[in-house]
Amino acid sequence: MSKVIVFDHPLIQHKLGIIRDKNTGTNEFRVIVSEIAKLMCYEATRDLKLEDVEIETPIAKTTVKRLSGKKLAVVPILRAGLGMVDGMLDLIPAAKVGHIGLYRDPETLKPVEYYCKLPADCAEREVFVVDPMLATGGSASAAITMLKQHGCKNIRLMCIIGAPDGIKKMQEEHPDVDIFIAALDDHLNENGYIVPGLGDAGDRIFGTK
Ligand code: PRP
Ligand code: URA
Repeated sequence: MSKVIVFDHPLIQHKLGIIRDKNTGTNEFRVIVSEIAKLMCYEATRDLKLEDVEIETPIAKTTVKRLSGKKLAVVPILRAGLGMVDGMLDLIPAAKVGHIGLYRDPETLKPVEYYCKLPADCAEREVFVVDPMLATGGSASAAITMLKQHGCKNIRLMCIIGAPDGIKKMQEEHPDVDIFIAALDDHLNENGYIVPGLGDAGDRIFGTK
């Protein structure tokens, strides 16, 4: 069974409060989503492997640490996941970036695929899938199925807000994928929006409504 890790760090919680507010405008929303992604990246990469390396400081020889495990990839689910990419790359600039395009059919709430471009060596990388919202879980689960079809084995999901339905679907369909979220909200409304949530993440990041 996958782990669900809720980041209760005060900085993350404070920033989450700002983006939930309907009076927060597009520019501030976009900046804060990126800041939350950066803080979440810091926490979610806690267990990356390190190796010892001998170097010389200007004063003496010493042993320092260097990242040694698999290389990383960040895969945003379009559109809203794009808002989390820069925050991730600020901390892991060597990561490659893949893109998966999915939108939720407003009637069925089922994900519809329209784009997939992944790094050629994606299967060898540790993949962080990013999307601010995990609602029914349809989009995240479909994106992760696509990644597995491309050979990816080490996958983590990072969302800002999760709903119980989305967590349940992910754990049933991808029990090997750990889920990092900043908040676990209460439920979905009749239109499949997370309550209390923050509204439509893509529209709020890109100002399309
Ligand atoms: C939103 C969000 C997720 C999805 C979550 O995307 O960014 O991808 O909905 O819902 P689910 O868990 O029920 O699948 P949306 O389909 O609105 O597309 P957009 O990012 O292009 O606005
Ligand atoms: N997608 C969003 O952008 N917001 C929700 O609350 C649910 C799905």
